[in-house]
Amino acid sequence: MAGAATTVATPNPLRDDRDSRVPRIAGPCNVVIFGVTGDLSRRKVLPAIYDLANRGLLPPGFSLVGFARRDWSDEDFAQLVHDSVSASSRTPFREEVWQQLKEGLRFVRGTFEDDAAFHKLATTLKDLDRDRGTGGNTAFYLSIPPSDFPIVLEQLSKNGLAKGADAPAGQPDPWRRVVIEKPFGHDLKSAQDLNALVNTVFPERSVFRIDHYLGKETVQNILALRFANQLWDPIWNANYVDHVQITMAEDIGLGGRAGYYDGIGAARDVIQNHLLQLLALTAMEEPVSFQPKQLQIEKIKVLSATKLVEPLDETTAHGQYTAGWQGSEPVVGLLQEEGFDPNSRTETYAAITLAVETRRWAGVPFYLRTGKRLGRRVTEIAIVFKRAPHLPFDQTMTEELGQNALVIRVQPDEGITMRFGSKVPGSSMEVRDVNMDFSYGEAFTEDSPEAYERLILDVLLGVPSLFPVNEEVELSWRILDPALEHWASAGKPDPYEAGGWGPDSADEMLARSGREWRRP
Ligand code: BG6
Repeated sequence: MAGAATTVATPNPLRDDRDSRVPRIAGPCNVVIFGVTGDLSRRKVLPAIYDLANRGLLPPGFSLVGFARRDWSDEDFAQLVHDSVSASSRTPFREEVWQQLKEGLRFVRGTFEDDAAFHKLATTLKDLDRDRGTGGNTAFYLSIPPSDFPIVLEQLSKNGLAKGADAPAGQPDPWRRVVIEKPFGHDLKSAQDLNALVNTVFPERSVFRIDHYLGKETVQNILALRFANQLWDPIWNANYVDHVQITMAEDIGLGGRAGYYDGIGAARDVIQNHLLQLLALTAMEEPVSFQPKQLQIEKIKVLSATKLVEPLDETTAHGQYTAGWQGSEPVVGLLQEEGFDPNSRTETYAAITLAVETRRWAGVPFYLRTGKRLGRRVTEIAIVFKRAPHLPFDQTMTEELGQNALVIRVQPDEGITMRFGSKVPGSSMEVRDVNMDFSYGEAFTEDSPEAYERLILDVLLGVPSLFPVNEEVELSWRILDPALEHWASAGKPDPYEAGGWGPDSADEMLARSGREWRRP
């Protein structure tokens, strides 16, 4: 064509040109798990490692070292891994995969104070590098209480085990990385101290903080939904959105978890991390690319603009479950659960109102709630739209009509629902809400990997996109701290019956502005 300009494609440094549909296999490496006999390790981490091996995503010489106090041999440790995998892995058990994984299992016995044990760990890793070609690349997984972080970090540093942590992600081996499980502190100050401590041993780019919600398929789909479609962006703002509800409801109680949960409570356990990350993905602007840095920039921007709406006694609620029914089973209240202080003020339900102070969201409340022993297990993000400015119907025709909503069903029954008004069949004109559903299970045949599979693989590949950086963690505490302080001085949490939907104060919180919680 005459006059057509020839364009020369120049590589965009913000884009990764690899085909991201093809799963990448981790390079040679070791994983060391501290706290390997704990519940999280047995239920989530070990099964996920097996699932990765089963999917062919671990390198041939992959080695796993367990570090714990028990007087165990490598064989005993292998038995623990075997039992965890048999009980909880997602993919079927295959003897040949297991045998290959087993060859790389080692156990180091010791306490965190024990210099000799860390020396033994160093020798074990050297032997593995030599015998199994793991190349000195090691991820240290801290599945331990934060109070043990200082001693373990000091030991890693003292024994030269953190050396190599400076190798940029994906760059020349060997690398050393640290994986940390929440809680990342219990308020802003303690989180800052913790981050400073971790960063004295591992630079930020070698620190991988696990927020397992970010590894969930449906959570990543928020980005696809928002940024791969033209449909939503024009209405994804204060002109059309009335409010947003982010809910994580669980039907389980806290029996057996007193040691972790008493004194922590629902807001620290779930809102500070999972729910604020869901808010960030829902409310952030479009990133320049999906490079980790660009995603972080947008999440940090939106969290910086997010604040609690006051007065807090009207815009927040906290509750504690009492005895009730879960389905057909009678269940006890929190104060009767084993291990809880009978005077515990720990909240098992928390709800807050947030404002995102940007042009896009000015005046749109974001309601976040979470609770244990609620009516059903469900996590969802509901974007609730304003009512049509004018309804050219008789009032009786639209009495049953609610607000349009787009609901991202994070779990279970993963998918998306759109709610809108439709004519009821018949000779009269009556408009009622109907749902249009997309369901993952029906639309795709592939099974989703478990969140931990994806996150552990990303650690080994050195891909940090799905891990909150220290600034995000600190901003989240900055948002939440005033509510925690308010509840600490407000007295006991409000009671709610197990199997219900939380305390009355939570309903009142929304009723003040004429709104109500969804009953999913
Ligand atoms: C954890 C919380 O982070 O998430 C638990 O500590 C909670 O209290 C769990 O039960 C829920 O995870 P999921 O993936 O089952 O929604």
